[in-house]
Amino acid sequence: MQSALGRRTVMSTTAIQQQQQIRNFGGEMRHHNTDVNNQRIPWDFTQESYKKIEVIMAKFPRSRRKSGVIPLLHLAQVQNGGWIPVTAMYKIAKVCEVAPMSVFETVTFYAMFNRKPVGKYHIQFCVTTPCMLRGCDNIIHHTEAYLNVHMGGTTHDKMFTIGEMECMGCCVNAPMIVVSDYTNPDNFSYEFYEDLDWESLKAVLNALRDGKPTRPGSQLPNRKWCEPAGGKTSLLMSEPPKPYCRDLDAKPEPKK
Ligand code: FES
Repeated sequence: MQSALGRRTVMSTTAIQQQQQIRNFGGEMRHHNTDVNNQRIPWDFTQESYKKIEVIMAKFPRSRRKSGVIPLLHLAQVQNGGWIPVTAMYKIAKVCEVAPMSVFETVTFYAMFNRKPVGKYHIQFCVTTPCMLRGCDNIIHHTEAYLNVHMGGTTHDKMFTIGEMECMGCCVNAPMIVVSDYTNPDNFSYEFYEDLDWESLKAVLNALRDGKPTRPGSQLPNRKWCEPAGGKTSLLMSEPPKPYCRDLDAKPEPKK
């Protein structure tokens, strides 16, 4: 019979695995065939995309076609409404003349590539330390309750998918999210919303759902870009002094 301590150990291991699955948006790193994403469903780039591929691949020498993997994954995701089927990965491997595993590894490494369909708006919360300290857990819990969806899931109306992302480089304006919309491939959007609390995030979600304009960037009314919310506290001069540079055209001093 399993001891109470043993049961606790098993339960906590399971909890860790569940947590891990939540954090790896899209579930496991391994591919599992589904009705909409399996190797029997053919996939190809459009003629328009192939024209773009010609331009992309011309930037790299013949021996470095592997460098085209990331731009082609991005192209496939845009063409395919925000996610990359497994058959698209095989196609990219063929175009870039690399092993399919090289493409799979790249897709699973970058959180901005999706391996399953997403809603119209894909909302990714930054969960790295500065955003965590500034309350990302709080806005995530509110969002899950408000949209009635768990992390990694899509709302019933297919309007929102929520996921996680690591630091997106706006730590000074933490907490932040990125919202991508690939429903119009020629004009897809990828917008950052920063300095969020639940009220400002709820306003963004409602505006997106209602098709109203939103204001990307800091949601604080008195913050410009990454400057302090109350105005500058350093670099108060309009133009910092230039670094010293000797006058290269100056005539040499006469020798005494
Ligand atoms: S930690 Fe969130 S943007 Fe850097």
